[in-house]
Amino acid sequence: MKVIITGGAGFVGRYLVEALVGKEEVVVFDNFSSSRRKFLRELDIKIIEGDIKNFEEVKNACREVDVVYHFAADPDVRRSLKEPLENFRIDVLGTLNILESSRLNNVPQVVFASSSVVYGNAKIPTPENAPIVPISNYGAAKAASEHYVGTYSQLYGIKATVLRYANIIGPRLTHGVVYDFYRKLETNPKELEIFGDGNQEKSYLHVNDAIDATLFAVQKTRKEFSVFNVGSEEQITVKRIADLIVSTLGLEDVQYGYSGGKIGWPGDVPIMLLSIDKLKSLGWEPRFGIEESILNTVDWLRSNRCKQGLERKRCL
Ligand SMILES: NC(=O)c1ccc[n+]([C@@H]2O[C@H](COP(=O)([O-])OP(=O)(O)OC[C@H]3O[C@@H](n4cnc5c(N)ncnc54)[C@H](O)[C@@H]3O)[C@@H](O)[C@H]2O)c1
Repeated sequence: MKVIITGGAGFVGRYLVEALVGKEEVVVFDNFSSSRRKFLRELDIKIIEGDIKNFEEVKNACREVDVVYHFAADPDVRRSLKEPLENFRIDVLGTLNILESSRLNNVPQVVFASSSVVYGNAKIPTPENAPIVPISNYGAAKAASEHYVGTYSQLYGIKATVLRYANIIGPRLTHGVVYDFYRKLETNPKELEIFGDGNQEKSYLHVNDAIDATLFAVQKTRKEFSVFNVGSEEQITVKRIADLIVSTLGLEDVQYGYSGGKIGWPGDVPIMLLSIDKLKSLGWEPRFGIEESILNTVDWLRSNRCKQGLERKRCL
């Protein structure tokens, strides 16, 4: 089978590439805007440098493909607040380009990386049939994209799996709260700025579990269109994450500064926990605990990042 993975050089996409290489003929489609081509070196794959906003590039890339894994996105809630049009172009128009290219090339199957953010401030634990009420432009973009995936599946018979991920962490992490706290403490081990009041409580999943769940869900997709939450059954506060990282790094007397308020930034969902009953009922469950996942991430960052002061692009 020939599979194309958009965003295959990104944090999650690269793990998916590694899981599928050797089993499928893997093509990565990425513009390397938040990743590097060299992340994929030594992998037996074809790389297409292209932009999902460019329909012709996407259409050409999707020729004779059996499955499209659409993971390319701008996943930054804060940037989507400042640049909603560009976020729309990447996250919605980009997805529509993928779907239309799949239709025109008779691609039978699409897998779409969505997010817990589509639910907004939902009752927790949040099941797949909860109302879709996003509170950020990024969330709205993922929700709109999911709807297009649904209509393309229904109208054109494309088998589709939508995966609504919780926060994913693990080795090679490049963004999110664990990464941000680590970077800040690396720069200044005496102070840590925390957005919000630190009581935001969210769920995090190890990237290895996320990939296992992804492949499991795709394999279990029987209906034309299926939606799965992908998360863990644990939550942790932002303050506890800070404490864990501080103690793992062996730091003492770190002063926490809080920006205040219940949310970290406009569009932030402060309390998040997905119900994973649907995947569990089919036989999948996460293997990593939440604190174990954070420690594993910090351990990797500590042993693999360059010394303080060096530019990130050169380090990773
Ligand atoms: N990481 C998480 O916690 C998380 C949680 C929920 C959902 N998701 C979703 O999972 C997917 C992967 O997330 P990630 O954390 O690996 O993100 P990432 O930013 O690490 O990777 C995204 C990849 O997409 C590429 N890309 C961005 N814009 C592109 C464009 N216009 N054309 C082609 N390629 C482009 C980037 O270069 C990068 O390689 C995204 O769709 C994201 O919304 C991630």
